[in-house]
Amino acid sequence: MSERNNSNEHHGKKPVVRRQMSRRQFLSYTLGGTTAFMAAGMVAPMLRFAVDPVLQPKKASDWIKVVEEAKITNEPTSFTFQVHQVDGWYESDVELTAWITKGQDGKIFALNPTCKHLGCTVNWNNNPEYKNQYFCPCHGAHYTADGKNLAVAPAPLDEYDVKIDKGFVYLGQLHANTRAK
Ligand code: FES
Repeated sequence: MSERNNSNEHHGKKPVVRRQMSRRQFLSYTLGGTTAFMAAGMVAPMLRFAVDPVLQPKKASDWIKVVEEAKITNEPTSFTFQVHQVDGWYESDVELTAWITKGQDGKIFALNPTCKHLGCTVNWNNNPEYKNQYFCPCHGAHYTADGKNLAVAPAPLDEYDVKIDKGFVYLGQLHANTRAK
């Protein structure tokens, strides 16, 4: 080293200054880099776990084929159907019920039987005091055929999206009742 520096000095050049890394610096760089690498390895899967279900594309078909259109009359009738639910990473098949009716306007509509008071299940025409109405046995809420709340419950029964395709009734998402007036 000294020879080279000396030769540089002899030729009128500036001496080369070598910056040496101390052992402490070397250790802290190495340990810091390793820690960052390991932390990234742990955090990346957690982030993916948290975010992945949100990024999944929604399934093309949210419509469930429930019953032949010809079976629907002016008398509300209950039909059950299975829905495949995905809640984050948990998938399950759930059985749901809808009361499906052909309204006075000729349109088929479907009501959710969950009472809007505290969530018990309503039935059609099951109480002689409330003929041709939905009645909830828990606290006595009752509703018209269109789902309009007449007592106790604060809101009308929810409605399913309905579509008719090739002679079958399909049900979609639940939404607030559009028929109860
Ligand atoms: S839950 Fe139906 S009346 Fe209370």
